[in-house]
Amino acid sequence: MSRAVSIIIPVAPAHAPLLAGMHRICFTEHWDEAAMAAVLAMPGSFGLLADGNPPQGFILCRIAVDEAEVLTLLVLPPFRRRGIAAALLGAALAAARAAGVSAMYLEVAANNAAGLALYSALGFQQVGRRPRYYGGSTDALVLKADL
Ligand SMILES: CC(C)(COP(=O)(O)OP(=O)(O)OC[C@H]1O[C@@H](n2cnc3c(N)ncnc32)[C@H](O)[C@@H]1OP(=O)(O)O)[C@@H](O)C(=O)NCCC(=O)NCCS
Repeated sequence: MSRAVSIIIPVAPAHAPLLAGMHRICFTEHWDEAAMAAVLAMPGSFGLLADGNPPQGFILCRIAVDEAEVLTLLVLPPFRRRGIAAALLGAALAAARAAGVSAMYLEVAANNAAGLALYSALGFQQVGRRPRYYGGSTDALVLKADL
């Protein structure tokens, strides 16, 4: 499979319908267009879109003072294992670092092998666990990357 990555562009408020449609494909508990618009309007939020033809994935983050959080990250199934998520996350880490952020956090389901492998490869380490966080049965792991 090609490692070629689509162009990465900043997410804009007008992307809310597109992002909601992509989120619906990748998550059971998906964010609809209104929820996506609300996330994009939060102070400190920023996003990056892998803008292939069609768009292939995106990451949304939020910066609060000197810490950042990954709110969501996805790559559509046909485009996985090409390095797109790693490119999006790497670009988000660089943007956060440039903004003076000292650490980035995220939550990931303990049984999400793909997510855990990705985050470990990008330097995230487990700093906490939230029992039965997802749907009452699956734990969430709290991961942190020092910038
Ligand atoms: C997790 C997800 C974003 C990965 O996207 P991706 O573009 O396929 O990931 P990449 O190609 O950048 O993978 C980078 C590295 O992560 C790891 N990785 C990614 N997917 C993996 C998988 N299915 N199994 C094992 N390792 C995986 C590998 O180390 C990979 O490097 P390699 O391909 O050289 O082995 C994607 O599978 C997805 O959207 N899943 C559904 C939504 C989700 O779980 N989001 C994260 C929730 S917090």
